[in-house]
Amino acid sequence: MNRTQLQNILEQLRILLGPSGVWVDPEKLEAYSHDETEAKRYGHMPDAVVFPQTTDEVCRIVKLANQYRVPIVPRGAGSGLSGGAIPHQGGIVVSLERMNKLIELDTANMVAVVEAGMVTNDLARIVLEHGLFYAGYPMSLETCTIGGNIAENAGGGKAIKYGVTGRYILGIELVTPTGEAVWLGGKLSKDVTGYDLKSLVIGSEGTLGIVTKAIVKLIGLPTARADLLVLYKSPQDAIEVVPKILTHGVVPTSIEFMDRLSIQTSCRYLNETLPYENAGALLLIEVDGTNPEQVETDLITVGDLCETQGALEVYVAQDKNNMERIWNVRRNIAEAFKVYCPIQSLEDIVVPPSRIPELIPELETLSRQYGIQIPCYGHAGDGNLHATLVKEPSMDLETWKEVEDSCLRKLYTIVARMGGKISGEHGIGIKRKKYFQEIVNPVELELMKALKKAWDPNNIMNPGKVMDVY
Ligand code: LAC
Ligand code: ZN
Repeated sequence: MNRTQLQNILEQLRILLGPSGVWVDPEKLEAYSHDETEAKRYGHMPDAVVFPQTTDEVCRIVKLANQYRVPIVPRGAGSGLSGGAIPHQGGIVVSLERMNKLIELDTANMVAVVEAGMVTNDLARIVLEHGLFYAGYPMSLETCTIGGNIAENAGGGKAIKYGVTGRYILGIELVTPTGEAVWLGGKLSKDVTGYDLKSLVIGSEGTLGIVTKAIVKLIGLPTARADLLVLYKSPQDAIEVVPKILTHGVVPTSIEFMDRLSIQTSCRYLNETLPYENAGALLLIEVDGTNPEQVETDLITVGDLCETQGALEVYVAQDKNNMERIWNVRRNIAEAFKVYCPIQSLEDIVVPPSRIPELIPELETLSRQYGIQIPCYGHAGDGNLHATLVKEPSMDLETWKEVEDSCLRKLYTIVARMGGKISGEHGIGIKRKKYFQEIVNPVELELMKALKKAWDPNNIMNPGKVMDVY
């Protein structure tokens, strides 16, 4: 796009959205040039950021983008971890921040209708006042938005029992890549009326349109909850117990795994202490429900199993303060590593849960082979681990890039051999595009490309994400 074309489209956008709805000041745009991936490496400045307040405005923006062939990049809170919301080809970022209202709380149908820019935690708080629960939220719930969660089909720490975002999205209002608004799905528990386009859009990383509203399923609030903190001598000891817990009868809400370096780094970042001195790794296991006695029985069942399976210690955290402290350490690991080891690759590989114990020795071998640390934490109960490749301080950048590239290729091949995938919750975006295109079945890739081409004939909707279509 040349300067005159840019000026023309900006002028039209200002007429549409008013001056406060169109930002071009580089200082203000900087915050929209990156997400939670390394800004220096993946960041790119947009030409403008726009802030629509209605679906109709979003439609008009998309129509203009088609007319001028300008890339547009939908954006929630920018808390993504694969570069999905980065304008890596420039163009216009469409921020949904100002579309953040609750439209309807329909308790008779147990749904909330919300605008896509609503912060996930705000929804959780609002429905809580009505004794209801929004279960599909990820670790970054304090900042992320429902629209971003939908774009990535975000997972999180409660997926064993409650599943991921997609399970709770009954309907979406979508602005298609050609600028038409359409509702997909509805306030329905069942719907096989034609293709399931709603589910196609969920997790499509903003490449098939802009979600402007969502119908979110709510459930009854689990009023009883308790956590176990289980210490193990080594990561392998801890992780070997996970498939045993999963097949033991009780369905825990979470089984989170943290190795020693992950715990230490987050504790240091938060100025917090946990009882882990002798532990090489720990499991944080949560059980919840509506009957406190049942929750306690379940907790004892899981705790006993852990004790017979080599745990060093089993701590029970039943009071809210203690639980919150432990979960805070867990939630802040990614941020802590970002601060202390900024040059790194945060992965979110996923394997069938029964295969998860095989990952630890593989990671240890890779760590030795490449001479780098690979701390690991994550949603062990989902078979989903955040192995994090960390640059050695003494390594120069060129060497690091080669090491990272080769190590990732090996890791992804190992995961595929186990029947796993390279991303369980963070998505492909730009960070994993190269590897995804190498590893995905070519027939599957062609089906995806065909869809993208049919939906977005001018390739303006978050182009160059997930895969290269042309
Ligand atoms: C977490 C993010 C990194 O689980 O997915 O903390
Ligand atoms: Zn995670």
